[in-house]
Amino acid sequence: MNTFYIIGTGPGDPELITVKGWRTMERCATLVAPKAKVDGDSTALTIVKGLMDLTDKQVVEVCFPMHKVNNGRSSQEVEAAWQEAARIILDHLKQGDVAFPTLGDPAVYSTGFYVYATLKEMAPDMEIRIIPGITAMSCCSAMGKQPLCLGGEVLTVVPATFDDDRLRAILTTCDSVVLMKIHNVMDRLLALLDELDLTKQAVCYEQCGMAGEKVHSNLRQLKDRELHYFSTIIIRK
Ligand SMILES: C[S@@+](CC[C@H](N)C(=O)[O-])C[C@H]1O[C@@H](n2cnc3c(N)ncnc32)[C@H](O)[C@@H]1O
Repeated sequence: MNTFYIIGTGPGDPELITVKGWRTMERCATLVAPKAKVDGDSTALTIVKGLMDLTDKQVVEVCFPMHKVNNGRSSQEVEAAWQEAARIILDHLKQGDVAFPTLGDPAVYSTGFYVYATLKEMAPDMEIRIIPGITAMSCCSAMGKQPLCLGGEVLTVVPATFDDDRLRAILTTCDSVVLMKIHNVMDRLLALLDELDLTKQAVCYEQCGMAGEKVHSNLRQLKDRELHYFSTIIIRK
């Protein structure tokens, strides 16, 4: 029976793909890559193309519309996309091993585990392996020469789309906070960080490891400015 591999590509720099991830993709006959828009590109695939020649492989891009997922449940449209992806993967597995490259690490806010769960439901005995990748927050921390947590510190990773009360509770109690998915909520976030006197301790990393990478140490300059979806804030108290 052929194997399905979910592989973290790291956050953008193709050199941050692990040797294991790269060797595994080299061996696979097919790559099934996620993308957010039908007419858009797959970021994971773009990263892989920076490292490997894919001309002798079958490459299939599958669209996963971005919608809220709560407790593993989502809209019918998103669940239908997971099922469609699972069917495509099962079909290609008849011809050889299949890799599913996914941005960063599959364990952190990634489509990879939704695909995993859908496949396990459809074909419980199939062989699935997960190859970890470097997370965006690790790359941001390295870029800013800023640790995520040391000693007895508590690190919390949270989508910035949470409501203010939930964010306030986290920002008040944790030593180190990584805020992901910040691009649409910056103004609300800035007001909250100002209220908690945390603006000076926050650094924003935009497109870390990608061509347009930027570090914003003065968050106030981000007011009314459009940020890339690939932006993360690290707050260390
Ligand atoms: C769907 S999550 C994917 C996380 C990814 N699986 C990981 O391991 O980091 C997307 C969020 O990750 C963060 N992100 C991903 N790539 C990034 C990058 N190159 N630079 C900064 N933040 C990034 C952003 O906060 C973005 O909104």
